[in-house]
Amino acid sequence: MCVLPGDGIGPEVVGCAARVLEAVAPGIELVSGEIGRSAMDVHGSPLPARTLDLMRGCDSCLFGAVTSPSAASHPSPVLTFRKELDLFANLRPVRNLVSVQGRPPIDVVIVRENSEGLYHQPEVEDAEGVTTHRRVTARASRRIVDFAIEHARSRGRGSLCCVHKANVLRKSDGLFLEVFRKRMRDAGEGLTAKDQLVDSAALLLVTDPSSFDVIVTLNLYGDILSDLAAGVAGGLGFAPSGNIGPRHSVFEPAHGSAPDIAGKGVANPTAAILSASMMLEHIGMKKEAAEVSSAVIGAYAGGALTADVGGALGSAAFTDLVLARLRR
Ligand code: NAI
Ligand code: MG
Repeated sequence: MCVLPGDGIGPEVVGCAARVLEAVAPGIELVSGEIGRSAMDVHGSPLPARTLDLMRGCDSCLFGAVTSPSAASHPSPVLTFRKELDLFANLRPVRNLVSVQGRPPIDVVIVRENSEGLYHQPEVEDAEGVTTHRRVTARASRRIVDFAIEHARSRGRGSLCCVHKANVLRKSDGLFLEVFRKRMRDAGEGLTAKDQLVDSAALLLVTDPSSFDVIVTLNLYGDILSDLAAGVAGGLGFAPSGNIGPRHSVFEPAHGSAPDIAGKGVANPTAAILSASMMLEHIGMKKEAAEVSSAVIGAYAGGALTADVGGALGSAAFTDLVLARLRR
């Protein structure tokens, strides 16, 4: 298993998740790789070839976060590994483990298309400005919708909502929506299909998140809505994610390197620990995966409160509580 701590709070939260992995699955070998600013300083690239090779050679990877390179000459290491490893699906479950005053309960899975859209296209400059190309293909749309259907079925979730902006982007988002409707018709019984414009979906996620179960959406919308949903659940420290492809997978907290709190020992490691649980499940260690998520859920149910939701527990102290539950 490959571990890529990265920058900022990445090493802090991944360190906590690694402690949990070592406790629950001592047989797993964890091999560290470099990514981000820290790799740039040593190897002159935010994603050195040896890191990518390591990722290719491992069953799965646990990644922290990077501080994005400022120079356009260095492409985003995250976008690069998503592309190189064909990680077409970005799975982002969001549920609240603590009740946050004034925010409704939430339990949604956002399935974000991870291979095209605004993220993977060139930005072309001319004298007056910049044009960003945005491509939507039938193939990528089918792949992500089928992934969402399969995920919903395997988790016993009942409804899929396609989030789009096909009232304006009639051809591109229109194609995505058309593919969704067709695949859902072909999928047969057992799942309800609906769709929602992205702007009103944002409103509903805040006012009535229970109107969603599984959301399947295009790349940029999925990025924005998953941070929004995490906010409803208490913050980015609660949002795990998985980048999944036919052969490879990379699990990471949905947050970034959080320079504002880096080095203080207060980052919430929940998203990283739950990402490790998703990784265990993905590689078939379902029992261990469930033990980790139950320990995290149990810690909050038992009154644990991390700093981001008004408590006093730092990263290490919270992880200690999770480890204590795992040992029981
Ligand atoms: P961010 O996700 O790093 O932080 C946003 C806010 O959430 C901050 O106030 C931060 O303190 C808080 N936060 C994030 N994770 C937390 C945790 N575990 N516990 C408690 N609070 C937490 O996003 P931001 O500030 O927009 O970006 C910082 C850097 O991270 C940028 O360079 C950005 O490009 C990069 N980034 C990298 C990602 C990745 O590696 N996959 C994803 C998103 C951003
Ligand atoms: Mg994001």
